Amino acid sequence: MPKPMLFSPFQIRDTVFPNRCTVSPMCQYTAQDGIANTWHLVHLGGFVNGGFGAVMIEATAVLPEGRITHGDLGIWSDDHAAALKPMVNFMKDNGALAGIQLGHAGRKASMQRPWRGNGPLGEADFALGDTPWPINGASALPVDEGWLMPQEMSAADIAELTEAFVTAAVRADELGCDFVELHGAHGYLLQSFLSPASNTRSDEYGGDRTGRMRLAIELAEAVRAVWPAGKPLFFRVSSVDGFPGGWELEDSVVLARELKAVGVDVIDCSSGGNQGRTKVNAGRTLPKGYQLDYAAHIRVEAGIATQGVGMILDGPQAEEALQSGQADLIAIGRQALFDPFWVRHQAYAMGVNDYDDWPEQYGWWLTRREPSIQALSK
Ligand SMILES: Cc1cc2nc3c(=O)[nH]c(=O)nc-3n(C[C@H](O)[C@H](O)[C@H](O)COP(=O)(O)O)c2cc1C
Repeated sequence: MPKPMLFSPFQIRDTVFPNRCTVSPMCQYTAQDGIANTWHLVHLGGFVNGGFGAVMIEATAVLPEGRITHGDLGIWSDDHAAALKPMVNFMKDNGALAGIQLGHAGRKASMQRPWRGNGPLGEADFALGDTPWPINGASALPVDEGWLMPQEMSAADIAELTEAFVTAAVRADELGCDFVELHGAHGYLLQSFLSPASNTRSDEYGGDRTGRMRLAIELAEAVRAVWPAGKPLFFRVSSVDGFPGGWELEDSVVLARELKAVGVDVIDCSSGGNQGRTKVNAGRTLPKGYQLDYAAHIRVEAGIATQGVGMILDGPQAEEALQSGQADLIAIGRQALFDPFWVRHQAYAMGVNDYDDWPEQYGWWLTRREPSIQALSK
């Protein structure tokens, strides 16, 4: 029986992904002043042990004001980068590629940690030390009523932002990261420039789609210029805003073509987030693989590799997405929180049970236990 695609390598530029399973970036809201700690190491290390071929470090702020919450990771100084080093080392020493998502939260910066409300900061947060900071964004439009008012970014702010992304990418390379992703989704800064719902600028970074895409493309080009030619560059999009008059799938296709032209290799196809959870997603239940059709469409229409994500729950579902050409890589988010050993467990369930692939500290024992397990199931 041929090995499932899910467990087969995939090469982008000079970089070989050992399998098609990546860990989707997931903020832990657990950093102190942007500095990573042992929680992040254990959290990400578990996925490495669990067989993911690539692990992406959560949205990491390129500037302090670009953090979503007080608990976000940052990479705006050498000290911040140094704190990420043990994680990158652990990934690479144990057979996984190390990735990092670089981001700026824009008008969604300075908000509550999810489990404290997921909205604008309030008195209860202030009492816990989470006080707001001034925020900036595409336009002077808050996420919703009661949220902080962002200041519209000036040309100088945009230049500073570009420099911050470039410096962050250089730091990520020096850290040893194998791939980097620009966070262009979920209503954070880059996505808020893209969407007509959040960008009402009258300068060259606003107006028609070409203007609204300008920042994303310029940033990708600037990062590509310093990011090594052999290493992949990912860009995460909100494939659609999900409401009338917002960013649409065909806009994502056009953006993906432009990003490809400046050296982006993979479009990571997410969706939503522009208006915050209050307006769009409240109460919605999500079907399995709800974003895979976006990944399939962008992959074909823009001729670029895609990463599929969203309610991908088991190996056969992921395999089907790969076999049918919906995506080239499969990102697992919450199901990896549920089961950090998702990859190894899916391989076992799909009959690819080679404990030689496991860390030897575990595999040696499990190989010898296997006959007993098999006997029990007879
Ligand atoms: C705890 C948590 C934190 C997240 N943080 C990020 C993030 O840092 N960057 C990002 O692009 N998406 C983030 N997401 C979204 C996930 O990467 C993923 O796209 C989403 O959860 C859908 O995939 P899933 O159904 O496999 O969880 C986060 C999701 C969760 C559950």
